Amino acid sequence: MSNVVIRELEGPEEFGLIPPVACAAWRMTTAEVSPPADLIALTHAGALTAGAFRGRGLVGFVHGYPRANLGQPALHSHFLAVVPSEQGQGLSTLLKLYQRDWCRRRGIGLVTWTYDPLLVKNARLNLVRLGAEARNYLPNFYGAMGGIYGGLATDRFEVFWDLDSPRAAAAARGETLLERDLSGARRIPLSRSSVPSGRLPSRLAIEISLDGARLLRSDPPAARRHRRRLRQIAAPLMARGYAATSVAIEGGAAVYLLERT
Ligand SMILES: CC(C)(COP(=O)(O)OP(=O)(O)OC[C@H]1O[C@@H](n2cnc3c(N)ncnc32)[C@H](O)[C@@H]1OP(=O)(O)O)[C@@H](O)C(=O)NCCC(=O)NCCS
Repeated sequence: MSNVVIRELEGPEEFGLIPPVACAAWRMTTAEVSPPADLIALTHAGALTAGAFRGRGLVGFVHGYPRANLGQPALHSHFLAVVPSEQGQGLSTLLKLYQRDWCRRRGIGLVTWTYDPLLVKNARLNLVRLGAEARNYLPNFYGAMGGIYGGLATDRFEVFWDLDSPRAAAAARGETLLERDLSGARRIPLSRSSVPSGRLPSRLAIEISLDGARLLRSDPPAARRHRRRLRQIAAPLMARGYAATSVAIEGGAAVYLLERT
């Protein structure tokens, strides 16, 4: 990661570097990603667009704009992307921590975003590495989408990152956050067609495939089945006040921990 600088983008030439990065990260065409002019206008109006630069080349970026419907100062982070050849080296973490600092300097204490809950890497980044939690299930949020999302309905977990929570602060200090302990959490198998009735314990565990990214890429029917099953279980639980607070890798699967707060 040496020689990489995280800083805000400046001017149309630098914003023009975004589409190739977005196309590579999401495996989409230029027509499917946001045009630079939109990002320039939003940034002019108060959004943050920060890039990871290797020399003059852009290898990743994060983009988010102020959010006005939560009753507290917040930022909605709409894009986070790192080009495939630079993934796995901590760049997305640096971009998110830059975003955290930028927000805190402006009195913004909350950042929200959405991600596909079948993508275990994203889940680990959001819930474990950054210490955020997913509180809402948004079925088919954007409509069907191609690229890495395989043309499926875009179900999303909505993530809330309380920037001054102990976990977010520890992540910012570079500490490795531990997965939360799953022991004692009641397992809800995805083979169920609905959540069990009656009062449920405050800690639940839901196991998903470790292989969601590959299913989306090369086996859309299987990904669709998996998507439907997770929706049947996670959506009603989140509507009842459960939040996904961690995800563990266990015995060849990924296991979400859901806690009622
Ligand atoms: C998601 C994405 C931004 C991650 O970028 P990255 O630079 O590779 O991520 P990092 O190297 O900073 O890794 C961050 C964390 O993700 C998790 N992670 C990274 N690679 C992983 C893998 N192969 N398996 C499981 N978890 C992984 C880890 O928790 C890691 O933190 P750690 O190394 O401290 O444990 C990148 O893969 C990407 O651009 N994907 C396509 C676009 C996308 O999904 N954007 C986000 C949509 S909301």
